[in-house]
Amino acid sequence: MSHIEQIPAYLTWKIRHKVMYPDLDFDKAILPNDDDGLHLGLFDENVLISVVSLFRNGDSMQFRKFATRSEYQHKGYGSEILRYLMEYSKNEGCNHIWCNARKSASGFYSSFGFIETEKISHANGYDYVIMERTL
Ligand SMILES: CC(C)(COP(=O)(O)OP(=O)(O)OC[C@H]1O[C@@H](n2cnc3c(N)ncnc32)[C@H](O)[C@@H]1OP(=O)(O)O)[C@@H](O)C(=O)NCCC(=O)NCCS
Repeated sequence: MSHIEQIPAYLTWKIRHKVMYPDLDFDKAILPNDDDGLHLGLFDENVLISVVSLFRNGDSMQFRKFATRSEYQHKGYGSEILRYLMEYSKNEGCNHIWCNARKSASGFYSSFGFIETEKISHANGYDYVIMERTL
């Protein structure tokens, strides 16, 4: 049985690093403003499987560093936490949500109603596109 709860930033770092930046220094997984974020973890049988970090700016919520442990991907955990964070953001009064998506994940976000903007970038060997939707 899975559940989602707020977790301290430091609990996200290992999964972020292992899933997103395995070839870079561990420090790359730490955001300078992690203390300003709200961090969510999805647990199944007390194993931390998926993490994501929320940063609010006015009525807009950004989510960052969304990662599911590799061996648990494509099992629906990411969808569960994404649905949760959209509902959470709406309940908190936000009317807009966005992320700087890896191009490889853009289809996943599209299936949740996110639209690709024209803001594209490239960093750390990955192509990114800002995706957004109203809540
Ligand atoms: C993006 C990410 C967080 C999604 O997490 P996830 O737990 O794999 O998400 P889900 O399992 O809910 O969905 C992922 C895919 O599996 C599919 N899926 C979900 N449940 C499934 C099941 N039971 N059987 C088969 N496929 C399934 C979904 O349809 C989705 O397909 P799509 O990518 O073609 O849209 C994860 O792939 C990840 O950590 N990627 C590497 C880091 C990254 O790119 N992060 C995002 C940065 S923007």
